[in-house]
Amino acid sequence: MFTTVLAQRDRTHPGALPLDLFAAIASLKKELNAVILAHYYQEPDIQDIADFIGDSLQLARAAANTNADVIVFAGVHFMAETAKILNPEKLVLLPDLNAGCSLADTCPPKEFAKFKAAHPGHLVVSYVNCSAEIKAMSDIICTSSNAVKIVQQIPSSQPIIFAPDRNLGRYVMEQTGRDLVLWQGSCIVHETFSEKKMVQLKITHPKAEAIAHPECETSVLRHASFIGSTAALLKYCQESPTQEFIVATEPGIIHQMQKMAPDKQFIPAPPMNNCNCNECPFMRLNTLEKLYLAMKNRTPEITMSEEIRLAALRPMQRMLEMSV
Ligand code: 13P
Ligand code: SF4
Repeated sequence: MFTTVLAQRDRTHPGALPLDLFAAIASLKKELNAVILAHYYQEPDIQDIADFIGDSLQLARAAANTNADVIVFAGVHFMAETAKILNPEKLVLLPDLNAGCSLADTCPPKEFAKFKAAHPGHLVVSYVNCSAEIKAMSDIICTSSNAVKIVQQIPSSQPIIFAPDRNLGRYVMEQTGRDLVLWQGSCIVHETFSEKKMVQLKITHPKAEAIAHPECETSVLRHASFIGSTAALLKYCQESPTQEFIVATEPGIIHQMQKMAPDKQFIPAPPMNNCNCNECPFMRLNTLEKLYLAMKNRTPEITMSEEIRLAALRPMQRMLEMSV
């Protein structure tokens, strides 16, 4: 399969790229002493060449622990920024600098500063899907795998702002019984799933279990028998005796699900329209070609001011300490 894909790619870029991108990337990896970290939403070829695949928390931990000199981050901008916050001395490369995040974009720093000022005395817990500037204004960072655990550790008398994802925030409220002040941000991918089509799928696949990421809306989450981060969804599929799953998150994760449970069937939850908008358009900007070129040219590089980095590091470290 890869031979065909690579042959097609080489016809599109005559002479510009090596014949075997996998071998060329492996050789650059040695030359640069680089590590390739990839999120589960990356295209299958990138997942296959990565040294480490994970959800946001696992990738942050991998970035915090690596001995490599160069981190090639196959994910989106806020994830690569997180790696840079933790590793100021390392070169952090993102194959396509336009790989942003619709959710992070819903929380501009100026507006968030006003929101914070309007809620004095509140502790700010921010989902890692935000810019370094928002992290710098936060007290604790969380990811979808530890959000509930982190909020549970905060004294019940302490009022909390939760930003930027209102769906994850609502889910955390339900799970903890806490009242959180929510920033009204959301992800275009996780808000695209159709409740009606999910219900229809459940009728046509009566033995299938629906599973969902907590960034989905409540209307979709209420049909899921398991809710969790990408890593938690993957683990659940492996361990559950169920043979068929309807998966309400970005379908890139299905590559790993199929590898880990080849006899099971995974059905991507359908979006509202007959589009492919359940694929994250930002994650999918990264390609194997761009990853190779980023390593060859040592750019695009993630940079930020030391002032922002240090301010963003503190709540990141609190998260890592609170989620051991
Ligand atoms: P995870 O915490 O599952 O990696 O989620 C990241 C993400 O961007 C979901 O849209
Ligand atoms: Fe951002 Fe949504 Fe893409 Fe995740 S899936 S990176 S939250 S736009």
